[in-house]
Amino acid sequence: MSKKIGILTGGGDAPGLNQVIRAAVFYGVKNFGYEFVAIEDGWKGLLEGKSRPLTVDEVRDWIYEGGTLIGSSRTNPFKHEDGGKICRENFEKMGLDAIIALGGEDTLGVAYKLYKEYEIPTVGAPKTIDNDLPGTDQCFGFDTAINRVMEAFDRLRTTARSHHRILVVEVMGRHAGWMTLVGGIAGGADIILLPEEPFDLDGVAEQLKKLREQGRQYALVAVSEGAKLKFAEGMDIITQDAELDEFGHVRLGGIAKVLAKELQKRTDWEARHVVLGHLQRGGAPTAFDRWFATQLGVAAVEQIAKDNYGVMVVLKEGKIVPVSLEEAAKGIRTVPEELVEFKKIFEP
Ligand code: F6P
Repeated sequence: MSKKIGILTGGGDAPGLNQVIRAAVFYGVKNFGYEFVAIEDGWKGLLEGKSRPLTVDEVRDWIYEGGTLIGSSRTNPFKHEDGGKICRENFEKMGLDAIIALGGEDTLGVAYKLYKEYEIPTVGAPKTIDNDLPGTDQCFGFDTAINRVMEAFDRLRTTARSHHRILVVEVMGRHAGWMTLVGGIAGGADIILLPEEPFDLDGVAEQLKKLREQGRQYALVAVSEGAKLKFAEGMDIITQDAELDEFGHVRLGGIAKVLAKELQKRTDWEARHVVLGHLQRGGAPTAFDRWFATQLGVAAVEQIAKDNYGVMVVLKEGKIVPVSLEEAAKGIRTVPEELVEFKKIFEP
């Protein structure tokens, strides 16, 4: 039976999105004669009924493209009046049989709710550079992002070493420290500060002094944008502004600047800071992410061919398998205690 499938990408873009779409269109058109449309700008496109056709010819060269070529947004239909109902109506108006949603916990949480409450047949795939989605061993986009972090450390090391400075590097990842941990270890950071382990400035300053006593003339500090700083009056994360998006997220950022200033004061060692920001998620995906995303695109269409909805295709113990979308709605997957301990092997 022929089917018309809508594909959308939600939340922050991540390398690998275009490769999932490309694989889904190739496989769906060639093997099943399915028709595809792009639902533009994530759930916003479904709310507003905005779509355009996607053909094999159009997606053929998308293998090296970064970001998402069908647009993204942080729109949450359930924050709009009658949002769920409007999505259902537009799903019908577009003549769709299923939706493939590519996103993190927010986008896939919506996919689950639309499936459960509005009977929209959805299939998801786990995207986020933060790598914090439960139900999968890894998210696509993460491999590319940690390579960007590692490359940044390789460059920053030479300048930090030349000037005998501390360089504090702020890494994305919101409330999970995966990018900081793996990128920091791969980049040889001396100190790695994660949201999973609140820290105090004096403790970090002591570690740096110890490193200097050991003869080291420069230091690299990796800090998660969401790392929690212990102050006398409690604990805090540092944010750019107080505004929340439609999923209730605050914009993080600024911790590296505070840290560099405070550590310089406490150690009398010149410090600079760098915020890697969106450089971490822009640009073309790594070979692994292209391969991973391609497998996910094919697997998503396979679920649709089997009429198996309300699932996301994920990586589990080396295999691509479907799991319930309910998994995605279970909050975030943070760095486990044993890996928080693991990083200490390399700290002063
Ligand atoms: O969730 C992905 C992510 O890149 C986070 O690591 C980061 O905090 C956030 O998105 C940044 O969002 P924006 O693109 O809205 O600045």
